Amino acid sequence: MRSHYCGRVTAALLDQEVTLAGWVHRRRDHGGVIFLDLRDRDGLVQVVLAPTNKEAFSVAETVRNEYVVQVRGRVRRRPEGTVNRELTTGEIEIDGLELTILNRAEPTPFPIDEYHDVGEETRLKYRYLDLRRPEMLNRMKLRASISRYLRNYLDDNGFLDIETPFLTKATPEGARDYLVPSRTKPGSFYALPQSPQQFKQLLMMAGIDRYYQIVRCFRDEDLRADRQPEFTQLDIETSFLNETEIQNIVENMIRGMFAELLDVQLPNPFPHMTYAEAMSRFGSDKPDLRIPLELIDMGDLMKNVDFKVFSGPANDPHGRVAALHVPGGAELSRKEIDDYTKYVSIFGAKGLAYIKFNADGLQSPILKFIPETAIHSILERTKAKVGDIIFFGADKTEIVNESLGALRLKIGHDRKLIEPGWRPLWVVDFPMFEKGEGRLSACHHPFTAPKIKDLSELNHEPTKILARAYDMVLNGSEIGGGSIRINSPEMQMAVFKTLNITEEEANEKFGHLLTALKFGTPPHGGIAFGLDRLAMLMTGSTSIRDVIAFPKTQTAACPLTDAPAPVDPKQLLELGIRIRKEVTEEKKSTEEKTTASS
Ligand code: AMO
Ligand code: AMP
Repeated sequence: MRSHYCGRVTAALLDQEVTLAGWVHRRRDHGGVIFLDLRDRDGLVQVVLAPTNKEAFSVAETVRNEYVVQVRGRVRRRPEGTVNRELTTGEIEIDGLELTILNRAEPTPFPIDEYHDVGEETRLKYRYLDLRRPEMLNRMKLRASISRYLRNYLDDNGFLDIETPFLTKATPEGARDYLVPSRTKPGSFYALPQSPQQFKQLLMMAGIDRYYQIVRCFRDEDLRADRQPEFTQLDIETSFLNETEIQNIVENMIRGMFAELLDVQLPNPFPHMTYAEAMSRFGSDKPDLRIPLELIDMGDLMKNVDFKVFSGPANDPHGRVAALHVPGGAELSRKEIDDYTKYVSIFGAKGLAYIKFNADGLQSPILKFIPETAIHSILERTKAKVGDIIFFGADKTEIVNESLGALRLKIGHDRKLIEPGWRPLWVVDFPMFEKGEGRLSACHHPFTAPKIKDLSELNHEPTKILARAYDMVLNGSEIGGGSIRINSPEMQMAVFKTLNITEEEANEKFGHLLTALKFGTPPHGGIAFGLDRLAMLMTGSTSIRDVIAFPKTQTAACPLTDAPAPVDPKQLLELGIRIRKEVTEEKKSTEEKTTASS
């Protein structure tokens, strides 16, 4: 039906006849001459229909935006002064000889125009129209190039692309499972995988040696701009490689991809930082190194001050007093500081003390509580100058890290302190376990190998044990995470035990893995990258929804298909499922209340 894509018709085709097909992006009637901007996947081209060509002209008169048409015409140079340098086709136009309407279109709910701001709900309801917009198409194209690059790299490095099941048993990655009821075994459920973690380990036990898969993962968790209930991982597993070797392979892959697709040279090698250092300096395990602000410890200076707010956490082994020095921040108004105080309270901070270094002296609500020598040391340690502000956080260590870590990012954005460029890093030496709500959970996942020599070490102070885990972080986003795995059944059982999983429960949930571990498991380890997050960063988008063709909303719904939706009672009967009205009603009303109060 066509000889060329619209966006590819350039001056190289001057005087040639071409046949194009696409959508009418815009139709302009210029005193007798009709201009059609014809659009397809590759771009726009201008078609001119003159009244002298009666038949084509009369068709052009009936054409509206988003009609699908076919045009036969001759390529000619645009008249002097009408060249459009913004378009690859901007030097030429098509002298339309024949115009056929292939299909009509009703007026669209929003203009297909990259400069138009349309509500996201509407964009998602009519996603097929939204995807016609050049900026969206370009994101989809880059995403496809990313997948292609990654596949080629891994194929070239001896990795086998192997599929793993979606209908399976739960694999814990810290989120809730999506469940699928079984018809053949009523009352039983499959879980959609939160990741192919167990299967890729089983593939190593099978001797596959190097595996990868670009795979959908399902996690029922609270959604944010960088999280979706179903998202895509580039999942990788290897045998007989240690963490440095694995990191080198995937670091090379990411570096090569940035060079090829974005012409960006990432550092070689990526810097490494321990989890402890990242938390202490940036209050985060995924620090955005483009922001030149750091948390500075002040605990030692505050042990003996009268101000309990500071001396309490300074003397508590689980507490922290830290400062965030913001050059030029003395100009912040009372209201701005109040807003920041409100902001840190989201993370549990009970206040946000500060010292302003004004030209006429220091200004601070805490000056009266802190001895002059300590103030002097604070200024010395932060290297604060006239015009700066120093914020303070004092509380349990996690609260200080979370609140000042978030404040660091917020101030970095608000005050435009973000340095341009790409700042990748490896965060290593994560703790093996974390304590939440009184019980231990695995920081990465329970298949990660701990850094210990002897099983018995698990019995004392497990929260001090480090894991052989590593995350790749880029500009403040965790783009990948992996680890060396446990490869003995005894160690796996011992880790389950530390996690308070009984032997019975372990056998019931992970019996297949524990059995497989007994039959000659090679040392193995791997990593998984968040493909959506990578695509988001590489396209400069602010949400992963913008790089997913058909994403879900913040409430995990699809405005296009209206999923999730009720099903036919017959289907439920077949599955042996009865909807408990009282439970759904109660849940709905709590959800409504929460939405109303948030
Ligand atoms: P992890 O849980 O760290 O590790 O996931 C790996 C990467 O997947 C991305 N990611 C997400 N992206 C979008 N939406 C989500 N809800 C979401 N959750 C995670 C992140 C993250 O770095 N099996 C292990 C990997 C391994 O050990 O090899 C795993 O899944 O970019
Ligand atoms: P107060 O004595 O409670 O009025 O607090 C004096 C100053 O300390 C105020 O600026 C508070 O915002 C600040 N502040 C209170 N609690 C904390 C805390 N836990 N961490 C940091 N600053 C705090």
